[in-house]
Amino acid sequence: MDRSDQTCGFSTMCEWESPDYEPTLPVSEKSNPLTRNIDRASADCIVRTLQACDAQMFQEQTEASHQKLLSDQVVKTLMEVAKRVEIILKDPQDSLVVLSGCGTSGRLAFLMATSFNRELRKLNRSLVYSYIIAGGDRALLSSQEAPEDDPRSGVLSLKKVCEGKKQVLFIGISCGLSAPFVAGQLDFCLQHPEVYTPVVVGFNPAHQAKDEPIPGCTFTFHSVVQRMQELSKSQVAFLINPTVGPEAISGSSRMKGGSATKILLDVVLSAAHAAACTNTPVTYEGILQHMRAYDKTLDITYAKTEGMTALVEAAGRSLRCGSRVCYLGWGSLAVLGLIDASECDPTFGADYEDVRGFMSGGYRNLSNNEGPLTSLGPQFCISHEDFLRSVLPYLSDQDTILLIFTRSDDVTEVAKLARRVREKTSNLHAVYHHTDGDTAAAEQGDISNLCLSTLNVTWPTPASRSFLLMQWELSTKLLLNAVSTGAHILKGKVYRNHMIDVQVTNSKLYRRATRLLQKLSAHPESKCEEALLRAIYRVDKLTQDITSSDMTAHTLTARKRTKVVPLALVVLLTGCALSEAESHLEQQPIVREAVEAWLS
Ligand code: F6P
Repeated sequence: MDRSDQTCGFSTMCEWESPDYEPTLPVSEKSNPLTRNIDRASADCIVRTLQACDAQMFQEQTEASHQKLLSDQVVKTLMEVAKRVEIILKDPQDSLVVLSGCGTSGRLAFLMATSFNRELRKLNRSLVYSYIIAGGDRALLSSQEAPEDDPRSGVLSLKKVCEGKKQVLFIGISCGLSAPFVAGQLDFCLQHPEVYTPVVVGFNPAHQAKDEPIPGCTFTFHSVVQRMQELSKSQVAFLINPTVGPEAISGSSRMKGGSATKILLDVVLSAAHAAACTNTPVTYEGILQHMRAYDKTLDITYAKTEGMTALVEAAGRSLRCGSRVCYLGWGSLAVLGLIDASECDPTFGADYEDVRGFMSGGYRNLSNNEGPLTSLGPQFCISHEDFLRSVLPYLSDQDTILLIFTRSDDVTEVAKLARRVREKTSNLHAVYHHTDGDTAAAEQGDISNLCLSTLNVTWPTPASRSFLLMQWELSTKLLLNAVSTGAHILKGKVYRNHMIDVQVTNSKLYRRATRLLQKLSAHPESKCEEALLRAIYRVDKLTQDITSSDMTAHTLTARKRTKVVPLALVVLLTGCALSEAESHLEQQPIVREAVEAWLS
């Protein structure tokens, strides 16, 4: 494929904000005009395009635009929520702050709840944070989309963590303001205001919250948000919903949605901690300054475009030839590796072996609710020892291994692991975060000598250690999102800027897939849904059984299938039988190429 730099002209920064731009879609599902041809871009251009997309997070609000991260109303709401957390920190008896979400939103809820609890433990204070993730702890490491559709299990898990509590600040995260799991929890909070104060975090204007009926419920996400909007006037509920622009890969909320979630909640919880533990009051200026510092985090990270490009190229080469990419991380940066790897399956139809994360200390250091999950299967083996035992022996130069560590980690241990990996493959790389005042340990030099590329990210000496760690985490998230997204683009897993091989495993993904087929084939919705069902059930003619089943049955069947959307698209565009489409895709797995070859 001729990968060019043609997508790197960024003249249309705000085209997506025009009311005429994809008017039926919420911001979080729109396609980003900046990335229209990202599937044909070079690695360098992919990185620079992602940088431009991420920069949209910090755009200023204009008169015509929706509220943004730095908008006055957003900053004020963050202050109010921080003050609620402060109250709980000062009087933690029978109180709790719960962070909840699905997929990456739940994984980030986990990361923040455990990180801020760790801070409290260091200060000998009561731990006040709990996390909930749809599908339970297995969803921290693997894709579990079906539970996202289940509001009842959302409520049950909330009741369980809050048993006996008299005051709960509930923070429900759904980037698209769409997950029924979170809607159920918010509705429950609204019904029990004597205990619960609900906060919703998402990245669409309130009127764009999902209004699709939820089976068995009288509310939709939209109606819950409307009630919360009303109650927010008396500060009984809070909405944090700036827009951050469409995702680089349409609907891939793990990217900007996840980054913005982390920025907002890190800012809120840090401000609350400073207020409760060091008597630094929560102020408007303080919140604003902290948010702006994250803008710098983006600059510092993307100043390393060249190094990022080298990583994207290496990872892309590995995936293209059926080899793997492994992240070997330390501390919370390793968790970001686990999170990044876990989303490749639903987003790109990847196998769990394609991109994997490993963490020093494994479950000993993960601090998840359910403890070790290794008995669930190889996908849940996450320690470096697991890597040495089950992956290292099979490595070759075609696999890409990435070490992720900071100056605070045990560099001798990193060097030791690097030497072991180097015996099997030369395709070893490193990301190393440190501050400008650090003197490099001798081992650091050794590690660089062992690696094909080292991305040294140098940070200004910070006002606080915990803020430095949060910056490293966000920076690592951006880097790894770029590596895994870029590598899958180079593998041909993106069509224009859409996830063409998305798993159709819940209602949101089913609707997204149908919409994508409509857009790419220009056929009516009914025909596209029919093609989608044919690809899910692998039949050329739909039976009465299939057409009378509900969406849950379809998504359950889709879980067992691969290449559902690519097959449906080829069938729609060419009119061929499923078996023909299957063999065509086997010969040409890059869907855009497959379709164009056929049509020409
Ligand atoms: O359905 C899967 C998924 O799209 C994940 O990729 C994503 O992280 C998760 O849903 C959560 O979405 P939201 O934050 O919009 O509820």
